Order: sequence, then C-alpha cells, then structure tokens
Amino acid sequence: MFGKTIVCPKIQGRKLILKPFEKESLPLIAEWVNDQEISRYLASDNGYSLSQEEQWYEKTMTRPDNYKWGIFLGEKLIGNTSLMKIEPIHRNATYGILIGDKSAWGKGIGTEVAKAVSAYGFSRLNLNVIYGDAFVSNIGSIKALERAGFTSYGIRPAFHFIDNQYHDIWLGSLSRKG
Ligand SMILES: CC(C)(COP(=O)(O)OP(=O)(O)OC[C@H]1O[C@@H](n2cnc3c(N)ncnc32)[C@H](O)[C@@H]1OP(=O)(O)O)[C@@H](O)C(=O)NCCC(=O)NCCS
Repeated sequence: MFGKTIVCPKIQGRKLILKPFEKESLPLIAEWVNDQEISRYLASDNGYSLSQEEQWYEKTMTRPDNYKWGIFLGEKLIGNTSLMKIEPIHRNATYGILIGDKSAWGKGIGTEVAKAVSAYGFSRLNLNVIYGDAFVSNIGSIKALERAGFTSYGIRPAFHFIDNQYHDIWLGSLSRKG
C-alpha cells in the first residue's frame, strides 16, 4: 500500500515530496531496475519485464506489510522508497530506496528520504526498530543511512556473488528514541 504523503525539506530550492505514484510510471521504473548502474546494489540476479513490474505493483499495493512512496523532486518522479516486512507484533520493518534518476544522486535526497521514512515508521506505524542494509561497496547508501541516524550492528560476509566477486553487506538499524 502507499503511505500518506510526506513533505521533506527542500533540496536546492526544489520541493521533495514522498507520495503515491500512478501505474503509468511503471515503464520508467522498469527502465531503472534494468539499468546496471542503478540496480547493481539491489542484489537482484534477474531483469524485469514491464508485465512483471505490473504484477509487482498489483501485489505490493495490496500488501499490508509494505508501505511504498514515489519520490518526487518538484513534479518529477525520481525514485521510490519503502518500509517492507512490517512486523506489527515485533514492531520492526526494513527500509529500502531506489533513486532512479542519476542526475538526482549526491544532492542529499537519499539522506532526507531515509530521515522522513524512518520518522513516519516511528510516529505513525509505531515501530521500534527499522533495519537498513547496503552493500559495503555502496558508499553513497551507507553515508545516507548514517546521516539519517542508522548505525551498523554488523557485516554479513560474502552474501552476494556479483560480477565475479563476493560482496559483504553492511547491516544497519535505527531505534526509536524515547
Ligand atoms: C544510494 C542512494 C540512495 C544514495 O542517495 P543520494 O541521494 O545520492 O545520497 P546523499 O546525497 O544523501 O548522500 C550520499 C553521499 O555519499 C557520497 N557518495 C556517493 N557515492 C559515493 C562513492 N562511490 N564514493 C564516495 N562517496 C560517495 C555522496 O557524494 C554523498 O556525500 P556528500 O554529501 O558528502 O557529497 C542513491 O544513489 C540510489 O538510490 N542509488 C541506486 C539504488 C541503490 O543503490 N539503492 C540503495 C540500496 S541499499
């Protein structure tokens, strides 16, 4: 399902808003997830067709354990983000983000989105802990998570084999304050 709209601090004078996106955006999202540069740290071994993306959309939108948002800079959809595997009894969830528009990288958007989505998880979904993992080599992702307050509780060694190389995973978490 989609989470409620979240207005983030402006980025370089432009509005940064998290809100639902329409099905019409799926071709763009399929383009992103099939772009090697964008998806290399998403740990997916396969490519996705548009019809698979449509099935994913239908499935995700009906799942109560998954909140999703489109990331909009001004009016433009530049990525998506989610709280996944929401556990209402244990009160934890896993954070994820994909900024597909490469021109939007390195502007602080990943940091603001991680802050905003985790604040939503604590204040609206009453979570206690949010997990956020990243490839150790995904320096931008780790920096953004750390700036949003996540800290590492360990490394999962050699978890993914990609491009003839094993990759370690940085395991991060953020706990509710107070
Ligand atoms: C990873 C991602 C979310 C980061 O978002 P972002 O908006 O670029 O992040 P921010 O700008 O808030 O912070 C990233 C920081 O890391 C830095 N950085 C990024 N790549 C880097 C690299 N290879 N080496 C060193 N620093 C790097 C940026 O310059 C920035 O630091 P700065 O503000 O000091 O310049 C975004 O690039 C993305 O969605 N990538 C594709 C999908 C992906 O990898 N998702 C995450 C899966 S865990």
